[in-house]
Amino acid sequence: MSGLIITSAICQIVPHSFRLRHHFATSDWRNLKECGTLQLKFKMAETMIKPDISYYLIKRITTMALDNVTKNMISWWIKADTTPKPDDEEIKSALMQVTQPVFLSDLQGKPALVKGELITASQVHPPNTAEHYPVAAYTAALAPHHLGDGQFKQRHGLRYAYIVGAMANGITSTEMVEMAGRNGMLGFFGAAGLTLDKVEEAIVCLQNSLKDLPYGFNLIHSPNEPGFEFALVDLYLKYQVRLVSASAYMGLTLPLVYYRIKGIHRDNDGNVICLNKIIAKVSRVEIAQQFLSPPPEKLLKKLLAKQMISQDEAVLARLVPMADDLTAEADSGGHTDNRPAITLLPTMLYLRDRITRKYNYAHEPCVGLAGGIATPQSAAAAFAMGAAYILTGSVNQACVEAGVSEAARLLLAEVKQADVTMAPSADMFEMGVKVQVLKRGTMFAVRASKLYELYRNYDCFNDIPAKQRHDVEQRILQARFEQAWQETKRFFETRDPGQIERALDNPKHQMALVFRAYLGRSSNWAITGEPSRKMDFQIWCGPAMGAFNEWVKGSFLEKPKNRKTVTVALNLLFGAAVQIRLNGLRLQGVRLPVGSDILKPLRFSEINSLLED
Ligand SMILES: Cc1cc2nc3c(=O)[nH]c(=O)nc-3n(C[C@H](O)[C@H](O)[C@H](O)COP(=O)(O)O)c2cc1C
Repeated sequence: MSGLIITSAICQIVPHSFRLRHHFATSDWRNLKECGTLQLKFKMAETMIKPDISYYLIKRITTMALDNVTKNMISWWIKADTTPKPDDEEIKSALMQVTQPVFLSDLQGKPALVKGELITASQVHPPNTAEHYPVAAYTAALAPHHLGDGQFKQRHGLRYAYIVGAMANGITSTEMVEMAGRNGMLGFFGAAGLTLDKVEEAIVCLQNSLKDLPYGFNLIHSPNEPGFEFALVDLYLKYQVRLVSASAYMGLTLPLVYYRIKGIHRDNDGNVICLNKIIAKVSRVEIAQQFLSPPPEKLLKKLLAKQMISQDEAVLARLVPMADDLTAEADSGGHTDNRPAITLLPTMLYLRDRITRKYNYAHEPCVGLAGGIATPQSAAAAFAMGAAYILTGSVNQACVEAGVSEAARLLLAEVKQADVTMAPSADMFEMGVKVQVLKRGTMFAVRASKLYELYRNYDCFNDIPAKQRHDVEQRILQARFEQAWQETKRFFETRDPGQIERALDNPKHQMALVFRAYLGRSSNWAITGEPSRKMDFQIWCGPAMGAFNEWVKGSFLEKPKNRKTVTVALNLLFGAAVQIRLNGLRLQGVRLPVGSDILKPLRFSEINSLLED
């Protein structure tokens, strides 16, 4: 066996393989070259080499050996002071000790847990040992903080590759963002739909409480209110909010590029530093392409012409992608293209690779996954497909820190997979954009769709046939149209007065604003729990909620009052680690009598004590 073959094989698999050599005694390498046998000595409690790396090494050497070199290579467990245990409960418990590797042997066709001191990879039976067993399967230690991309976690100062996604109107509340930040995760405050004053309040609150801990704010595309998007960017720059989640973009905008580029400079070592970081959230390839590329020349020129950025900033802008990282958003709550995660993520990963090869960035953007992640299995699938991190939404809305009423959270706790549907969105109503909302227990989706249909078919409210007009005023607006318009006007007087002028000139626009006001207020009714408007609650929600409810059935997390953002997050990550380890063993051909009850939710303290080892 040639040491060269093995070294190059390892290099393909383990990115930091050059470090591996330092972990082995030189004699091991000589041994490997000369005798074709590598002995890896593990101290089970105090592992000499990182267990996950050792896993790749053993697997790869074994594979190389079997495929290319010899058919006789095998790993052996050498008995010390314990005996193999063909006990299902022991195996289950070992799998949950995620900070420890698991070795299984085969005792007359039954998997048996082996614990001991020495594992040998050898072509021949280990010499001079009293008792040894072939290792039938092995899985590495894999704790929640091992999951995901290290570069991503480092870039944002995180322990876990986990994002609590932004939910509009402060549903992702300051409390939720704070809990995420204090526990090594990242939360994005739900700034969309709020006034600038409210966003400012949230910035001050989080900056005071979190200081240098991670947090971010949502920067949502507002095609109907371009002035508002600029004002929000100015606010973020004023307060040095250094990380935003850019979402709902249908193309890059001037304020977004301005945010990204303002303050870009070289440090003393010549590295290009972007003060303002963006994690983009997209569901379309053409938008992802724009975020993964440097800012467009056209927009840079506009910013230069307006003297909003300097020449130096424009020059450096060409060296960085618009977004530091990119979340591929599959079928989700709120705005969604209903893409399947299983097809979307690989496409985004290929795209990222192609574009970063083209621009040769100093820092490659990471690609994470959102949409439908609500169970350990879906979290495991995301990481298995190569997601650098995961982002959740729907499941957090049902948590106690969410800025929604208890009435809404109780409804969410009852949701099943098919209890969601698409309905017109308030912010992009005229464009026919839809959002995914809760169907069960509310009439919102039906009523909002009716309003959109009327908007499409008539040029002004008075053109609508009398019976339908009456119906809209009676059941949906619960006011005469004129009265509803007066209320709508009052809202836009402070938010965006230009809209009122347009509406006075254009009755179709006036009708759109009144209908949009109903859509906007309906989500506020869900937030405040307005009892007289329970049937009009607009609750953004994806099929993730039903999957989550099914998983937690019968556990302490079934009760809404026990759902805490960080407990849910840690359970998803912990469960994903267990699931990946279980899969690893099964893929090596071991039949394990372990069902999905191994993934049942655990209390925060229970997980932490399992992670203490
Ligand atoms: C109630 C709710 C409100 C949301 N509001 C926003 C928002 O304002 N901005 C945004 O970028 N994403 C928003 N989202 C999307 C989430 O941030 C996240 O991307 C999505 O929920 C992930 O998919 P999931 O719902 O399947 O977990 C919202 C989602 C929900 C459920």
